Amino acid sequence: MNRTRRLRKSENIRRLVQETKLSIDDLIYPLFIEEGTGIEKEIVSMPGINRFSLDTISKELDEVIALDIPAVLLFGIPKDKDDVGTSTWDDNGIIQQAVRFIKENYPSLYVITDVCFCEYTSHGHCGIIHDNDVVNDSTLVNIGKQAISHAKAGADMIAPSGMMDGTVAMVRESLDNTGFADIPIMAYSVKYSSSYYGPFRDAADSAPSFGDRRTYQMDAANRDEAIRKATFDDQEGADILMVKPALSYLDIVRDLKNNFDRPIACYNVSGEYAMIKAAAEKGWIDGEKVMMETLLSMKRAGANIIITYFAKEVAKLLK
Ligand code: PBG
Ligand code: ZN
Repeated sequence: MNRTRRLRKSENIRRLVQETKLSIDDLIYPLFIEEGTGIEKEIVSMPGINRFSLDTISKELDEVIALDIPAVLLFGIPKDKDDVGTSTWDDNGIIQQAVRFIKENYPSLYVITDVCFCEYTSHGHCGIIHDNDVVNDSTLVNIGKQAISHAKAGADMIAPSGMMDGTVAMVRESLDNTGFADIPIMAYSVKYSSSYYGPFRDAADSAPSFGDRRTYQMDAANRDEAIRKATFDDQEGADILMVKPALSYLDIVRDLKNNFDRPIACYNVSGEYAMIKAAAEKGWIDGEKVMMETLLSMKRAGANIIITYFAKEVAKLLK
């Protein structure tokens, strides 16, 4: 008789046949950096996650280093916003300052910058607005400027998240033409228009003031389109392809894994974090175990890299 239980009999044999492993090596930790001083504000819907200013962020970075988390992904919250997000390509903008600060004080940490506009525009959309919609090609010009400015500040990797067509080609060309041919691009290739971003938009003050993002982010119903979009990013030279959100889109993670010879990242987004935290707080689930199972499922689906607010907690458990 075929018996599958033979290989489950003891911890040791289970270890030997385990197919997927979660490792600290897989983790990227997002950080919210606010312009100003003395800021350390917990995000209400993301318990354990704070906004920091640069003068308070060191103890967070010390922890990241101590836990051996390889990389951080930076999001900026600027003092001033305008209709195009001018401060995103200001060499003294909040992200540029943050990158210089981290590379100076924590040279071993790998620094990835999110390239977008929604935290920096008065209307909260991911680019230049005309007739109530984001204009693709003029936004691309500003994406190029922003990427170059991040690179000049010392970013190790650029992660454009705005879902404008042609983004990867524009970032690649901009970096190549300014002496940054060695900086890789992690493309938010398959980014769905998702209600799971709710807590992040509170955290980063980036909710759109009118309408939604459905003219640029993908429809949750679409799977074939994910391959099409990832194909374009692959052709344009993305070094890493990302799926976002992660948990409700693990089929897409597997599709990308099977179809592309590139490392695949997934973004375990704010709403996914908040759901586990909230249920655990109520005592309805074992938060730690559900966290580990959830992140393991992303590895099993095919992700090589997981961007997650749980990174510190996971690293503590794995260490
Ligand atoms: C926008 C952006 C979003 C996130 C990161 N950058 C989503 C959005 O508002 O469309 C979401 C991250 C999260 O929810 O954790 N460029
Ligand atoms: Zn955006």
